[in-house]
Amino acid sequence: MIKISNKAALGSVISAEDVARIMPQACKALETLEQGTGAGNDFIGWVNLPGSITQDTLSQIEEVASSLRETCEYVVTIGIGGSYLGAKAVIEALSDNFAAYKPAKTKVLFAGNNIGEDYLSDLMNLLRDRRFGIIVISKSGTTTEPAIAFRLLKELLEQQVGKKVAAQRIVAITDEHKGALRNLATEEGYKTFVIPSNVGGRFSVLTPVGLLPIAVAGFDIRKLVAGATEIEKADNQLVLLYAATRNALYRAGKKTEILVNYNPKLHYFAEWWKQLYGESEGKENKGIFTASVDFTTDLHSMGQWIQEGERTIFETVISVEKADNEVIIPFDDANLDALNYIAGKRVDEVNKMAELGTRIAHQDGGVPNLLIQIPEISEKYLGQLIYFFEKACGVSGYILGVNPFNQPGVEAYKKNMFALLKKPGYEAESQAILARIDK
Ligand code: PA5
Repeated sequence: MIKISNKAALGSVISAEDVARIMPQACKALETLEQGTGAGNDFIGWVNLPGSITQDTLSQIEEVASSLRETCEYVVTIGIGGSYLGAKAVIEALSDNFAAYKPAKTKVLFAGNNIGEDYLSDLMNLLRDRRFGIIVISKSGTTTEPAIAFRLLKELLEQQVGKKVAAQRIVAITDEHKGALRNLATEEGYKTFVIPSNVGGRFSVLTPVGLLPIAVAGFDIRKLVAGATEIEKADNQLVLLYAATRNALYRAGKKTEILVNYNPKLHYFAEWWKQLYGESEGKENKGIFTASVDFTTDLHSMGQWIQEGERTIFETVISVEKADNEVIIPFDDANLDALNYIAGKRVDEVNKMAELGTRIAHQDGGVPNLLIQIPEISEKYLGQLIYFFEKACGVSGYILGVNPFNQPGVEAYKKNMFALLKKPGYEAESQAILARIDK
């Protein structure tokens, strides 16, 4: 089971009493979440999700995944935000670091998470004359970034294999009834999976949104779901401790939380986490800003700022107890690099000492530290982490006093972009924004 300690977060700006003082509020927030009586309660379907995923759903996902694996060298997963980051996080965490350069039966690629013309052009060049399939994911079915990528890749696939075969290699994951993607999927006869209407994008990794791409990449979705279910069924002590401590720190002026890892495979896990908390809590002019660093890499860049910059930050360190592989640092007779003092040690032992040394240095430098430990990077523990962070996010958002399940702020850029692109229906906004730019 994952473990969490807030010991190194206490002492400088908050005390154990400060956390204890928030605890009743945290318990109330948990109750509100579990009883579905809080703001955004039409989007809390994820709370009981891991334990309620049926064997039948898992089998259907595995079946479609294995048929895509049989047919395709590449499967492009199209989606953005919550319709992308969960799958990306888990696949990156479980994959060989150099998977992109090694042969594999089927490689999962991602698109529709940016509007980079070169990105799309490079991707289409890669896919030309290759056997590829598409998983297109959008809950609303109308998001611009994935819609552009899908239009381009659908055309490419149809040109390559014809409309009929293309339709067999496209899977759409969207709302059960509404949205352009649902209509398109029905019209074209695509295989579809449903994103439950009461599960928001950033809480959807344990639905087909995350599970299908993860299964296509060859990982065990049953273990992932089982891990999440363990946390769902456990008491909520870990969740309460994390949610209460980060809110106590926030109230004490620690406005930025940095998620720290010491394993490059967790880079995208931090991206998923940043979206989960950033989009859930950053509203009504409040909320902890979520940032992340990959150590020790970033100790040689942001490490300076963290050690001695403005004291408005705290860190949450994800510590992985066991590396998967053993690499021993060799003894060298000449010792010209003066490294013999660590000869015979595992690389991971050095990494662990870097981690310990950094945690102590940052604490000494006025950076409170929360520590989350997982025994290893595996489906089971990623599942535990995912559900732990989701639940704590709901609780934390309610402690903060916001609706953690909406994202009204995301609309502002879209409105301007549509106005600038002269999307039908945005005529008034178009005139207004163009007048502003002219000035
Ligand atoms: O968490 C969220 O709700 C968002 O990040 C969405 O997932 C993201 O905007 C993509 O939306 P959609 O799935 O409707 O295309």
